[in-house]
Amino acid sequence: MSTCKPACLPLIHKTNFQAGRLQVAASALELVIRNARVATASDTFVADIGIAGGRIVQLGMNLAAGSREIDAAGRVVTPGGVDAHCHFDQPMAPPLRMADDFDSGTRAAACGGTTTVIPFAAQEKGQSLRAAVDDYHGRAEGKAHVDYAFHLIVSDPTPKVLEEELPALIAEGYTSFKIYMTYEDLKLDDGQILDVLSVAREYGAMAMVHAENADCIEWLTKRLEAAGRTAPRFHAHARPLLVEREATHRAITLAELVDVPVLIVHVSGREAVEQIRWARSRGLKVYAETCPQYLFLTAADLGLDDNYQGAKCVCSPPPRDKANQQVIWDGLNDGLFTLFSSDHAPFRYDAPEGKKPAGEEVSFRHIPNGIPGVETRMPLLYSEGVLAGRMTLNRFVELTATNPAKAYGLHPRKGTIAIGSDADLVIWGEREFVLRNADLHHAVDYTPYEGQTLRAWPAITLIGGTVVWDGEFHPRRGRGRFLRCGKPSLAPHGARG
Ligand code: URP
Ligand code: ZN
Ligand code: ZN
Repeated sequence: MSTCKPACLPLIHKTNFQAGRLQVAASALELVIRNARVATASDTFVADIGIAGGRIVQLGMNLAAGSREIDAAGRVVTPGGVDAHCHFDQPMAPPLRMADDFDSGTRAAACGGTTTVIPFAAQEKGQSLRAAVDDYHGRAEGKAHVDYAFHLIVSDPTPKVLEEELPALIAEGYTSFKIYMTYEDLKLDDGQILDVLSVAREYGAMAMVHAENADCIEWLTKRLEAAGRTAPRFHAHARPLLVEREATHRAITLAELVDVPVLIVHVSGREAVEQIRWARSRGLKVYAETCPQYLFLTAADLGLDDNYQGAKCVCSPPPRDKANQQVIWDGLNDGLFTLFSSDHAPFRYDAPEGKKPAGEEVSFRHIPNGIPGVETRMPLLYSEGVLAGRMTLNRFVELTATNPAKAYGLHPRKGTIAIGSDADLVIWGEREFVLRNADLHHAVDYTPYEGQTLRAWPAITLIGGTVVWDGEFHPRRGRGRFLRCGKPSLAPHGARG
């Protein structure tokens, strides 16, 4: 992001000590980040960060010299972000195709301060889950710039999937799976959901649920289409809050029946939030995720009747209104939400494989759902959450890095600043600038946040102690490693308990 470069860059330099001392230091510490204002999910303190072998090996004051040093005086340093909900190169029905593969998607992630991503290996109906995972590895290998794990999407829970494939894959480090309650090609009925939740319970995996009532959506969509209401903005009319509320309640109930924790993803507004609060008040283990679109967009961004541009913001659940944005901010602050993810689902706007599968005359039902956001997730929340005084720095770290790493069994290797953790770090630059898609690094031809004023952007992103972004992107294509996930290690409702 060139707009940030001149003002935000801390000094990077080789150390200039006597040869003998440098030799000793070089063998000990490859990099020292000096005088960082280190923020974790629980604490903020000033320290030097000593890095060797790609890991944090020392934290303290006046550390010995490193082979390289970064002066971070006055800078906030957070763990690199863990984006636990993003879609890259997910197979789609023709003509649709995602704009970002593991190359461009993880490039964008790194430039926006995200150093670990967890996209989805999606099973097609009739396909074995193992084949979906193998296919997805083929799409990632040799391309990723940041480390990555996979969630599974279970769309066809056959006896073989439930009894053999899922247990084996969980044991191999695929410890989370997403269940859809909507989308014709992905949705499960309640009995199937119970079956999949039972596997999550038996093997200690994390079940994520996309909670929208498919029949209500279809019923509303048909009526809207019959009335000629097919413009992008009617996408929101087909998916009102109660559609999400009912499915959220049902998902919670099904999980209660099986007695297993459940994570409701991309929660958009008040009614689903109320269901989650109700469940928590009953002592149920319900986790919740929300995303930038529910803080920064409203249904008005889906446009007017004669305006197709609103297709850019078509995602599910849809953006709501200002009052619901406040409900989401409140939930981020008071512990209702456990995770803040992007749900990056990248489709080009001006393209038949993207938001215009049949030009602009198409009914909203044919517009692919999803918006880009992997690069803007962290800066948006840092700017409008932390710097605008809406949340503490520690809560920001918890939501964007620590809790995602805990939820999916990657903590403490990822998601924190601690001895032994991977040296995946963000040194923040704080300066106002206007966000432009031209400055972003994804392969999408728009950002829903075009023209928004931000107050911060990563000045430097490090992965395993290597600078990957410092106002310029330094590719490390193929050096992103596949991570096998352990079991979730979240406290009952997230780190806040
Ligand atoms: O509209 C969305 N959210 N698209 C991405 C797929 C999903 O359901 O998360
Ligand atoms: Zn979803
Ligand atoms: Zn998604």
